[in-house]
Parts: sequence; structure tokens; C-alpha cells
Amino acid sequence: MKVLVVGGGGREHALIRKIKESPKVDSIACCPGNGGISYDAECYPVSAIDIDGVVNLAKEIKADFVVVAPDDPLVAGMVDALNDAGFATFGPKANAAIIEGSKVFSKDLMLKYNIPTAEYKVFDKADDVISYLKEKNEFPAVIKADGLALGKGVIIPETLEEAVAGVKEIMEDKIFGASGNNVVVEEFLTGPEVSVLAFTDGKCVKPMVSSMDHKRALDGDKGLNTGGMGTVSPNPYYTDEVAKECMEKIFIPTIEAMNKEGRTFKGCLYFGLMITPKGPKVIEYNCRFGDPETQVVLPRLKTDIMDIFEAINTETLCDLDIQWDDRACTCVIMASGGYPKSYPKGLEISGLENGQLDGVTVYHAGTAIKDGKLVTSGGRVLGVTALGDTLEDALKKSYDAVDKIKFENAHYRKDIGQKALKAVN
Ligand code: AMP
Ligand code: GLY
Repeated sequence: MKVLVVGGGGREHALIRKIKESPKVDSIACCPGNGGISYDAECYPVSAIDIDGVVNLAKEIKADFVVVAPDDPLVAGMVDALNDAGFATFGPKANAAIIEGSKVFSKDLMLKYNIPTAEYKVFDKADDVISYLKEKNEFPAVIKADGLALGKGVIIPETLEEAVAGVKEIMEDKIFGASGNNVVVEEFLTGPEVSVLAFTDGKCVKPMVSSMDHKRALDGDKGLNTGGMGTVSPNPYYTDEVAKECMEKIFIPTIEAMNKEGRTFKGCLYFGLMITPKGPKVIEYNCRFGDPETQVVLPRLKTDIMDIFEAINTETLCDLDIQWDDRACTCVIMASGGYPKSYPKGLEISGLENGQLDGVTVYHAGTAIKDGKLVTSGGRVLGVTALGDTLEDALKKSYDAVDKIKFENAHYRKDIGQKALKAVN
């Protein structure tokens, strides 16, 4: 088979590495890919959001299967367009991807089908949000832009002044464009967060092993929100008991709700959960693999990923037994100094050979090859990933490797996995 993967970050690199293990696969293409991905797949300079461009590329290279990884093309209907052109795909259609594309949709769905989540109210005018927050006078408050916002559409103001400023930016200055036409104001929940990615074909839902993201830029969960600075799997807060409760109250009801709405979800559904004192609740749904969750979940997958993708495509996932490695996996993100704000690009990366280093897997997120040299080209640059018999072992391997990889002003968190370790010990 020839498989085309749409996207160009660390998540896509992790997908490609796993697809490469499949005996069914002869070659992998990626668009646009990146410097590190080019060691594992043929990269084509077609943007991941260019639907016509991707359909044409799939035709040109005669792809047998297309995996659409990022949120924006899924929400915009890339899978629909590929299916219409006759391609087998992995990823939800637009009418199901809306579960991530609109927070108003997902909150209303959860309310209608009694799926546990934070209480909420929807607003379409900045003044109304501000009056509501004033009247309620409970902080921190949680304010979310309705649409996609590069993972930055959630603000958690501690004061009314902060809230007013944030609402104005989203609803009046439109820093996220039309995504800010509506906002959701939510109850502030507390408790450890767990990410659970799940395979589903609409008939069956098969959760993958759990993981924990580290969203803030700095140690101790300080600093700005980022796309994710590191992950560990498994997540110790996701006990068997919690898993069972999630299956009964969240996973199955969500799949059934989407079916009832005529929006069958086929692909990877990401459940962002908070384990509150009142039980697990949904913080967010994503219509795709998480980044950098994928980087710690897929290395633990033992089953051929193409078997899973094909089973979802043919709606036979119930018949497939999916096997996982018991070992722990950790990913430490090395980012450009300045990320998530502005940062330089084009800095030479040393310490890697053909993009890799012995003993770990280096997933490339923001790298390019320039004049034969590997250089930085994005905010998150590398995800240094290791498997270990224990979480400590895996973390030591990841961090030992991080010490050997250099680029000017590299920034990484020193405390990835520490919260998980505390929960275990
Ligand atoms: P999201 O983009 O929806 O994942 O939100 C980003 C982060 O904001 C989450 O990972 C949580 O840490 C936090 N968050 C979102 N919703 C809530 C909530 N209702 N209560 C507390 N924290 C929240
Ligand atoms: N790591 C969070 C996400 O992929 O949305």
C-alpha cells in the first residue's frame, strides 16, 4: 500500500513511524511534512488545509489510503472530499468533526445526552458575557471561543478585569476570527486531567492507553498555554475504576449521541477529561489524535495500525483485538526559545544523526533541512520520546537524550512526568 499522511508536525511523524512498521505498507507520503519526517516519508509541498491540493496529490501519487491528522482540514471537510474522489481514509467527516469545530455544538450535545461536563452558558454578545460574569462574580471563570483557535481559544481569568480584556479580544478584536462569534462560559472544574484517545467506527469504541499532557510553557505549570510541552503514558489518575466509569458515562454515550444526531464519528476521538471530586467530566473533545499525546501512545501500540485504520473504514472495529505494550512512554518537547510567543527559525540542530539518536525516538515537529543541515522551523521543534519499564526509566532516557541535542536557546520543561510520579509513589 501507498499511504498519504496529511499534516507536518510531531503527531504526524509519530503516525508515520507507526505506519512504517506495517508489513502492508510499501511507501509513505506526507504533505507538507517537515525536515525530520523526510527521513521516513516522501514529503510534498502541499498545505494540510488545501483540500483540492491534497485530493490532487492523492490522485497523482495513486495513494491507497489517506490519513488526515490535523483538526482544520477535518473540520473543513477534507475526508468528505477524499471519499468523494474514491479514496479510503482515516478521519471523521465534517459533520462529525464539528465535535471539535464548535464548542457550542459539543456542549449542547453533552447536555442533551446527559454526558458529564462543566455547566455552561452560550453568548453571542461581549456585553452580555461581561454582565453575566459581573453578576456571577465567581473567579476563576472559564471562557472559550466557539470555534478552532490553534488550541489557544480558552481563557481562565482570575479577575473581572482580565475577563473583560479577554472577552473583548475574542469577541470584538476577533483575534481568532469567526471562531469568536460565540463564546461558552463554563463552570471552573478542578482535578487531574487525563487525555484518552479512542478508536471508533461508530459501532465500537476502543480507547487507547491513557496519557497526561503538560500544557503550560514553564515548570510547575506556570507561563502561557502551549500546544503541549510533553506527555507521559500511562496517566496514573486513569485507574481501572475511572476507565470503567468513563466507558459507561462518557465514551459509549458520546458515540451513540453522534449516531443519533446522524453524525457517526469514524476515526480517533480525543477525550480531554478532568477527574473531578464528582467523577470524570469532559473538558473538551478533539476530532483527531492529540499532539503530543500521540507521541507517547502510538509507541505502545502493538497491533498493526493499518489493520485498525482499515477496520474503522469498513466498520469492523468490533472484531479487532488491539494490543498494547505495558511499558511507560515519555515525550519531552524541545521548543524554540520564545515559544509560544515569537521565536527565531533556521537555527542549526546538532546531536542527531539522520534526525535520530540511539535509545530514543525523536519525533520532529518544527524542523527543516536547509543546505543539507537540520534546522529549526517552528515553535515546538522536537519530541524526544522513550519507552521504559517504569515511568522513571523512560523519563531518564528522554532527558539524557535531550541533554545531547543542541540548538541555540532551546527551551524544554525539566519537570515532565513529575506530577505523574508523585501520583504513583
Ligand atoms: P481546552 O483547550 O478546552 O483543552 O482547554 C485548555 C485547558 O483549560 C484545559 O486543558 C484545562 O486545563 C483548562 N480548562 C478548560 N475548561 C476548564 C474548566 N471548565 N475548568 C477548569 N479548567 C478548564
Ligand atoms: N495536546 C492537546 C491537543 O492535541 O489538543
